[in-house]
Amino acid sequence: MSGVGGVSGGPPRSVRISGWGSYVPERVLSNADLERIVDTSDEWIRTRTGIRERRVAAPHETTATLGAIAAKRALAVAGLEPDDIDVIVVATLTPDYPMPSTAALVKEAIGNDTAAAFDIGAACSGFVFGYATADSYVRSGLARHVLVIGAELLTRFLDFEDRGTCILFGDGAGAVVLSASDEAGGGMSGLEMTTDPDGAYMIWLPSGGSRSPSSSETTSRGEHFIRMEGRETYRYATRTLAASALKAVEKAGWSPDEIDLVIPHQANVRIIEAVAKGLKLPMDRFFVNIDKYGNTSAASVGIALDEAVAEGRVKPGDKIVFAAFGAGFTSGAIALEWTADPADGARAASVEPVASVRAPLDWNSVDPMPPRLAAVLDDPDGPQVPLDDVVPGEPAHAHSED
Ligand code: ACO
Repeated sequence: MSGVGGVSGGPPRSVRISGWGSYVPERVLSNADLERIVDTSDEWIRTRTGIRERRVAAPHETTATLGAIAAKRALAVAGLEPDDIDVIVVATLTPDYPMPSTAALVKEAIGNDTAAAFDIGAACSGFVFGYATADSYVRSGLARHVLVIGAELLTRFLDFEDRGTCILFGDGAGAVVLSASDEAGGGMSGLEMTTDPDGAYMIWLPSGGSRSPSSSETTSRGEHFIRMEGRETYRYATRTLAASALKAVEKAGWSPDEIDLVIPHQANVRIIEAVAKGLKLPMDRFFVNIDKYGNTSAASVGIALDEAVAEGRVKPGDKIVFAAFGAGFTSGAIALEWTADPADGARAASVEPVASVRAPLDWNSVDPMPPRLAAVLDDPDGPQVPLDDVVPGEPAHAHSED
């Protein structure tokens, strides 16, 4: 029997990562592309953030489809069938809709008939918060296998006239399967999670919720885009990320110099360097891939984990730390011992990078691509009209022929 509460035999001896996987869209948006959209430079972006490029989802992709591909890869690595999963947790700040949950759509897309599925809102800390939630279900004996997915389609929530935010974020998804094990040891041994509402409005998306429902007025004021106080967020991140990681490590009974690899949220390479300093660890004990994907929020730790394993940076017995911070302000860290065979990761290659979610009946919405972004992506030589003249719903070059 599957599903929450359907597990017999009581709590397991340990909770371990049995599968992992990720997916990033094919389309690359380079810093040079962004130079054509806002007043910025490759040099500024690289030196201030460490980002060289990021991925942009195709029009037919959604947060749920990105998450479903990462989930299918994690299932393949775990050697499990979709119906083996009892709970599906999706961490995202860019859901397909406020309701239904993105997890419900992922459940259908991966062909699972049995799991309870719900979303978690903890912004960039979502993967860590989701992992902690999943671990609790398995540890208590309420579930045997839980899928945790961090998935984001941030490029549709960015103001491509705001150089302070649009250069930072990208799209993608990462997933793990947490499974009950009859063997003792391994898995999460230290957890720290915090939420500091003093930072509630440092990174936020003003409209579309109960406080400010979407209207033509909120849209004309650009309140459907992510807003951020970059410097305040930076200060918070450097302060709390190292503190959270240290607390998780202490709770595990380790000292920082025993850590084999820190897999941090990828927001800014300078923030990661500050954490390394705080933990008195060299940068080679940190996994960094922000140069390729930018900040993918709740997806970033899962994507980084998948790449770290594939690159041979993780082996059984290693002491690993996940550490993240995000809007809320939230922060969280997990100290865990890796147990899986990294070679199992090769099984993900059998998964085709396609997934679809059912379309609603009798409903046809707008082209989801932000027009200023589409104008640059659609034309390798650059848009033929000034970006300020780009009209939503009209291709940039058709407009230019007027
Ligand atoms: N290109 C060129 N110049 C820029 C750009 C840009 N893209 N953006 C800002 N500038 C300019 C500013 O206007 C400013 O100019 P001024 O000195 O003439 O006023 C100058 O560069 C310095 O701006 P700062 O904001 O001080 O730059 P800073 O070094 O702080 O870097 C950044 C900005 C990258 C946003 C940094 O503050 C940061 O990384 N903050 C944390 C952001 C973050 O992690 N957010 C994710 C949170 S996770 C979540 O939950 C979503």
